[in-house]
Amino acid sequence: MVKFVNKFKGPPTVPVFGNIFNLLGSPADYYYYLLKMQQVYGSTLRIWFLHIPFIVVSDPDDVQMLLSKNLEKDKTYKFLVDLIGDGLITADNQRWKKNRRVISPAFNLTTLADYFLGSFNDQNEKLVQKLQKHCDSNELFDIWEYIDTASFSIICETAMGYKDDEEVEFLKSREAYMKASDLVGQRFYQAWLHPSFMFKLYTQIIGMSDIFEKAKALPKTILRKKYQNQRLSSNSQMMDEQKDGKRTQCIVDILYDLYNKQHYFTEEELMDEILTLIFAGSETTAITVSFTLLMLAMEQSIQAKVYEEQYSVFGSSKDPPTAKDLNQLTFLEQCIKETLRRFTIVPIILRRADEDLILKSGEIIPAGAHINISIAGVHLNKKTFPNPYIWDPSNFDEECIASRHPGTFIPFGVGSRMCIGNKYAMMTMKAQLSTLLRNYRLTTTLSQDDIKLNFDVVIRSANGYRIMLHSRH
Ligand code: HEM
Repeated sequence: MVKFVNKFKGPPTVPVFGNIFNLLGSPADYYYYLLKMQQVYGSTLRIWFLHIPFIVVSDPDDVQMLLSKNLEKDKTYKFLVDLIGDGLITADNQRWKKNRRVISPAFNLTTLADYFLGSFNDQNEKLVQKLQKHCDSNELFDIWEYIDTASFSIICETAMGYKDDEEVEFLKSREAYMKASDLVGQRFYQAWLHPSFMFKLYTQIIGMSDIFEKAKALPKTILRKKYQNQRLSSNSQMMDEQKDGKRTQCIVDILYDLYNKQHYFTEEELMDEILTLIFAGSETTAITVSFTLLMLAMEQSIQAKVYEEQYSVFGSSKDPPTAKDLNQLTFLEQCIKETLRRFTIVPIILRRADEDLILKSGEIIPAGAHINISIAGVHLNKKTFPNPYIWDPSNFDEECIASRHPGTFIPFGVGSRMCIGNKYAMMTMKAQLSTLLRNYRLTTTLSQDDIKLNFDVVIRSANGYRIMLHSRH
């Protein structure tokens, strides 16, 4: 049991009620409860998550101090290992340090623009075609499945060079992946599934003992083929094809070069890193894009402003966006940022104190304590954002940003373990939204009050993203 020093002021009621809520309620109840407690007790408090006591921190200075210390991740992250192995998200600090340094260049802006933007645009064109059947029908439909499939295809193509996303093998692998991901989500919130033997037993009882293997089958096959392929033995031969005079290359090719030439990665490590990127890079962007579309469908005047900006950059051209075009879409970027604030897709990150840590208030987090860094608490703080639950992109007007502490908007985390895919995410989301909004006008009968949230490992809408599409052409 964690030793809380007396000096640490935690509200006495939270442990008791927190536990009851967690045992009886849903993960979404926990999310709302946590936010409520932060409003009642302030930015630092103690709360139980199932049987584990956590110190919750949401003051921007404290959050920055904690994340700059490169603390070990909480051991609950290890529940993800069955699905994604020991890649950047789950690796201990030693392995993480070694791999993060060499993976980072695969995510710089030049690589993104030169190698990945073409794949984003190809998939977005396919998406526009697939959505045609809902156009001008005047019936609400949930756009989630379309966006999620497109994001999964994009990450499979940019991470592994896999393009056959209509293939049975791909669809089967994706279905298994979703089920496996759900199962991991369940494990987080059910204390009795925390011990490995109980979880193993449970997967056997429900007939899903092979689900993780099935989920990894496709990436494994693709990577094995890559290893066997002599074509990949030198960097100059690694280009998949020529596109508009540009080389296309996937992340695994970039990393394979290190594996091959410098024996930097083992085959297993490379596999784990790719599985990690697929996990971290598909649903997060799909949820953000889906929420942004839903919000724009609700807020017609904001959508009109976004379209005006599109028109000023592209005119009536249907050409796919270039990196330069995307840079000019500053109001669209404001809308995406506001979605990342209002819905904070990754609402909490968990760490373990490896030494006594002193907060701004003088309170001490004792070594060994579990820490819950509440990004949602930072983003939904009334003192920073006067109407925190209203989606309003003007929160990201230049003068508003200038007047705020930089640590009050941290959707990708901060510090050395900050999201490696943040620029990739912004580019893929902007490209997708730009393509969709130039083809379709969006409407819905729903309003912001209708939104209910679900929470597993990430935040998502409980009642889907139901909109109507109207042709712009
Ligand atoms: C809207 C989209 C995204 C959001 C909100 C998001 C958010 C985050 C956050 C908050 C973290 C820090 C977690 C922690 O410190 O415990 C993180 C880490 C990470 N993200 Fe993202 N992410 C997004 C998209 C992506 C994409 C597109 C990729 C890859 C293609 C990616 C790959 C990763 C990886 C590998 C890590 C672990 C980094 C490390 O520990 O070195 N993410 N992300």
